[in-house]
Amino acid sequence: VQAQIGEHDTFMHKEIHEQPESLRRMLSGRLDDRFATARLDGLQIEARELRKFKRVKAIGCGSAYYIGQLGASMIEDLARIPADAEAASEFRYRNPIIEPDTLYVAVSQSGETADTLFAVNEIQRKGGTVVGLVNVVGSSIARACDGGIYLHAGPEVSVASTKVLTHMGVGFALLALALGRVRDLSFTEGKRILDGLRNLPDQVAEIIAKEDEIASVAKELTHAQSLFFIGRVRGYPVAREGAQKLKEISYLHAEAYQASELKHGPLALIIPAMPTVAIIPDDELVDRNIGALHEITARKGKVVAITHSEIDLEGTEVARIDVPRNEVELDPLLLTIPLQLLAYHVATALGRDIDRPRNLAKSVTVE
Ligand code: G6P
Repeated sequence: VQAQIGEHDTFMHKEIHEQPESLRRMLSGRLDDRFATARLDGLQIEARELRKFKRVKAIGCGSAYYIGQLGASMIEDLARIPADAEAASEFRYRNPIIEPDTLYVAVSQSGETADTLFAVNEIQRKGGTVVGLVNVVGSSIARACDGGIYLHAGPEVSVASTKVLTHMGVGFALLALALGRVRDLSFTEGKRILDGLRNLPDQVAEIIAKEDEIASVAKELTHAQSLFFIGRVRGYPVAREGAQKLKEISYLHAEAYQASELKHGPLALIIPAMPTVAIIPDDELVDRNIGALHEITARKGKVVAITHSEIDLEGTEVARIDVPRNEVELDPLLLTIPLQLLAYHVATALGRDIDRPRNLAKSVTVE
């Protein structure tokens, strides 16, 4: 094992640090400057045929489902077609209505998750088109799908997924760009997203370089009994994934909530021992998000913000981790990176088995 993880103490740590390099590999050959779009030959769908889809639905399990929700918001932003995500395990059992003009996207690291594979089979039986966002080449889901985008993240060993999730997010950005460019997204806007994608690997490296700072924030959180992770619209899937990562490896209880829904119930739980990790992108909702932070601090809640240095949080935060700005549609990808390191350092400080958390398997191939 030591030979495989080199200078790192765990696979999770190694995989977090691999991201800038693995992202460069994933993007190479896929950014088409001539037409300001993404080159996605593996989809096996002609550009003009992409126009026929009126809706996109992402399905996956666990973190792959949360990233699907983030992907759906990118597709709505860039292609302006309705998109959403659902847990594959729910989808397959509820007798879903399969529509011929919906593009289904199966999201899976391993390509072997039973619930996701069954959902793919069910979609195809009923005449739907399903493409895969899969990491493992030649896996069952990759083979079953009508086409797809391989994630090319390299092997991921740690049970808690990190680099592959980032690759899934980038896969969705590429898909959103391709869908947008056969609709209303202009050449100039397409270029803006291409440039944003090109900047991502270096910006991810910049965030990882703040590891010591993130570790000291993590140390403060180890005393918490329970945490909220909040976000709104683009920030909400980021919050869900952040809470999931923390639960998986630290065993602290964490709950993700839409920032706007706090006042409809969970605000009752805010006490100093229940900190909130708040995802604050620099988008049109920033003022509303800061409003939610004031509601928390008024109840003596502590706020750790994951945000951008340009944002003035009006003194509501006890700590903040700033990530560089990219394009508004891609910023959520950057906001997930500190949450990987935060979960890792909370779990390390608590002495947990990082790569093999209790009760969990890397891929669940049974129902
Ligand atoms: C398991 C893992 C999760 C993962 C999920 C989906 O539950 O513990 O970390 O997100 O399966 O796995 P997949 O291989 O389909 O992405």
